[in-house]
Amino acid sequence: MDSFSTVIRTASHEQHVEAETSTFMSDLLGGRLGVDAYARYTEQLWFVYEALESGAERLASDPVAGPFIQPELFRLTALERDLAHLRGPRWRAGVTALPATRAYADRVRECAATWPAGYIAHHYTRYLGDLSGGQIIRDKAEKTWGFEKKGDGVRFYVFEGIANPAAFKRSYRELLDGVRADDLEKQRVVTECKRAFALNTAVFRALGEEFPLSA
Ligand code: HEM
Repeated sequence: MDSFSTVIRTASHEQHVEAETSTFMSDLLGGRLGVDAYARYTEQLWFVYEALESGAERLASDPVAGPFIQPELFRLTALERDLAHLRGPRWRAGVTALPATRAYADRVRECAATWPAGYIAHHYTRYLGDLSGGQIIRDKAEKTWGFEKKGDGVRFYVFEGIANPAAFKRSYRELLDGVRADDLEKQRVVTECKRAFALNTAVFRALGEEFPLSA
């Protein structure tokens, strides 16, 4: 039987391709969007990570989700520095969640509060993705909008506390494989992971509508 980390990866593969090739992501990576679109996207991430990380402290002592709460992953401070750079020191006053982002953050918060194993699905979908494809986005953002390499504007993608992302991802997969849950519960987590991808894709769709290309 495949390990849980393999099951979850395989199960979300199709949706990963969908997210990766969404119009908004393609336009962003293709250098076809302005920095305002990137800033709007970063704002949406702030709401998602606020939901992921505000519940983290309480989950740290949870037997199922606890091992996943690793401070070197936390992104909220980095996002806040990026937003201060992108929107100015008063960024908080202007930040708004798209309805799709609100729905995503609400679901994360709900899992964090009531279902620790479900929270793992959201944790995996975001942080392992940030450690992987996030690095491609960072490189493109630096080149397209001229951010200082690994500096303000792209700090979200820079994991200062993780020297070896490949090794970190390996041990993360081991954590997934060691999750204390029966098969039925693991299946529910896989379903939640697919939901997490769908919630991401919905945010991309909304951003794509807000930033259509004139060409
Ligand atoms: C243009 C956007 C994206 C690119 C270029 C990209 C690229 C990649 C690449 C190359 C990997 C493989 C890394 C490895 O094997 O170690 C990966 C893994 C992953 N990505 Fe993405 N990705 C993108 C968007 C996303 C999005 C939007 C999500 C979800 C929010 C996501 C979630 C993940 C996850 C969870 C993994 C880990 C899979 C695993 O090994 O279990 N990615 N991504």
